[in-house]
Amino acid sequence: MINVTKPFLPPIEDYQAYIKDIWQRNWVTNNGPLVNELELKLKEYLKLKHMLFLSNGTIAIQIAIKALELRGEIITTPFSYVATTSSIIWEGCTPIYVDIDPLTFNIDPSKIEAAITSHTSAILATHVYGNPCDIDAINVLARKHNLKVIYDAAHCFGTTYKGKSVFEYGDITTTSFHATKIYHSIEGGAVFTNDPELLKKMSFLRNFGHNGPDVFTEVGINGKNSEMHAAMGLCILNYIDAIMDKRKNQWLHYKEILKGLNVQSLALYDANGFNYAYYPIVFSDEEQLLKSVNSLNLNLISPRRYFYPTLNKLPYNKNAAECSVAEALSPRVLCLPLYDSLAVSEQNMIARILLRVQNN
Ligand SMILES: Cc1ncc(COP(=O)(O)O)c(C=O)c1O
Repeated sequence: MINVTKPFLPPIEDYQAYIKDIWQRNWVTNNGPLVNELELKLKEYLKLKHMLFLSNGTIAIQIAIKALELRGEIITTPFSYVATTSSIIWEGCTPIYVDIDPLTFNIDPSKIEAAITSHTSAILATHVYGNPCDIDAINVLARKHNLKVIYDAAHCFGTTYKGKSVFEYGDITTTSFHATKIYHSIEGGAVFTNDPELLKKMSFLRNFGHNGPDVFTEVGINGKNSEMHAAMGLCILNYIDAIMDKRKNQWLHYKEILKGLNVQSLALYDANGFNYAYYPIVFSDEEQLLKSVNSLNLNLISPRRYFYPTLNKLPYNKNAAECSVAEALSPRVLCLPLYDSLAVSEQNMIARILLRVQNN
């Protein structure tokens, strides 16, 4: 079976060594030494000042919204994973959808201004597939209208924008370290900010609002992560450069072998800063996509319709605006399998099947 993704697992001995230490310390969660070590090592690796390791990428978005005290309307993208929208609604705000750019699939900054009202408090944009948004343009708009900016960078481990980690930008950036991601800690996530006050606030928020054992400064939540998860994150950090190099080669190999396929590919903001996290292809119509998926499935290959449907069409989003670009893209886009242990021969088989469907 070839799935769209398969978690990278380090040699079991690496993980066992950490687990042995955890057993000796008998300290399994609540801001343990491995969580602290992981935060230090990730900051060093990503060349960032501040981050907090959290239980997942969804709670990271919710904590970001809470920390910035957002109210009313949040401008967001219809083309992202459901967690981007559900977090907004969960925090009592209203998502206002702005359509995407047809080439990069990220929110289109030229359409944002028309959606701003007196109720708008922020822009929450996703860097889709690891490809950064037009951060400069979003920044200009946010400053002009005094809006906060959160980036959902769940796909972006290793992505850079203008030479710096993409996690540096916005008031807060969030990410996911879920097992399906290029870098993971089984379950996990993080928030990043350059503002030490915001960092402090989010550190209270992730720990029930505790500011010391008996003092509660904020309404918090349990967003902590465990020593076992941090251990996996630490193990994988030793392999991440090799994983990223391989991912780039696999991505470029798809590009080469799919040259004859009549599909649109992702327009990269900057190939040098891209992390090669996903390989989406866009068919000319949904029928062609469904035929291809069917044929791949018959060969035990499971690509993913990522993201489908668009978020403005979720059943609990009754009055959301139409987003014609995203709605035209979403039924036609397919992410091909891409993970560390995917063999060149398997990629070649996927390409052969896709080309056979097209040419029949
Ligand atoms: C764009 C995006 N945002 C948020 C999330 C949520 O992350 P998590 O699964 O760690 O909660 C995901 C997860 O797939 C995602 O793809």
